[in-house]
Amino acid sequence: MRRKLAAGNWKMNGTAADLAEVAALAAAHPAPGVDLLLCPPATLIHRMAQVAGPVAVGGQDCHAAAKGAHTGDISTAMLRDAGATHVILGHSERRTDHGETDAQVRAKAEAALADGLVAVICIGETLEEREGGQTLGVVGTQLAGSTPDAATAANTVIAYEPVWAIGTGKVPTLDQIAEVHGFIRAELVKRFGEDGNGFRILYGGSVKPSNAAEIFAVSDVDGALVGGASLKAADFSPIIEALEAS
Ligand code: PGA
Repeated sequence: MRRKLAAGNWKMNGTAADLAEVAALAAAHPAPGVDLLLCPPATLIHRMAQVAGPVAVGGQDCHAAAKGAHTGDISTAMLRDAGATHVILGHSERRTDHGETDAQVRAKAEAALADGLVAVICIGETLEEREGGQTLGVVGTQLAGSTPDAATAANTVIAYEPVWAIGTGKVPTLDQIAEVHGFIRAELVKRFGEDGNGFRILYGGSVKPSNAAEIFAVSDVDGALVGGASLKAADFSPIIEALEAS
């Protein structure tokens, strides 16, 4: 049985004042029936970890090197030192804004796994790729190229996030989600054998309280990576409850 995971990605949002949302979330879910994770900006990781209760805290990126001359970057040891247990890698905004390639994402994931962080590896097609019928090809290439050989069901989570659904209010049909999640599952089993059945596969892209339950009913959807709706406890809580009920 895969334990479900509700993960929030705060992106470049949040200062100390917003930690009240995390405290409210922790108070509302003292004994959650699913795993909970919030990934704030690096500046908030340490303080969030103090108030997060049952909610795990993660970074949004890391460098592949352990230390050195990389101005502005953050290492896996720094994330752990601040209280992070997870790290999002290869988010489409990093791939777009910073030109991150599959090989770079894989190197970062290797560093994260070697240092004991759980990697949440993001993959997903653009609208042009979807309309061109390339979705499974693109997702398969990103999955193979971004996931290290050391990945296991315990240390790696895959997040399928169609780029065109992120922050747009647009969501794929349930059949489209089922097709891609089923494909990712099959690829994981091909590569990792029986352990491939244990990886959590999250859906991400415009998940909201109003659509969460139907998305969570899709097979091989083991939770969500939520952006905008993870910023407020009042929005994230009903998503968590929908996942608990699924
Ligand atoms: P969204 O973002 O929920 O705001 O669409 C999801 C993500 O990018 O992880």
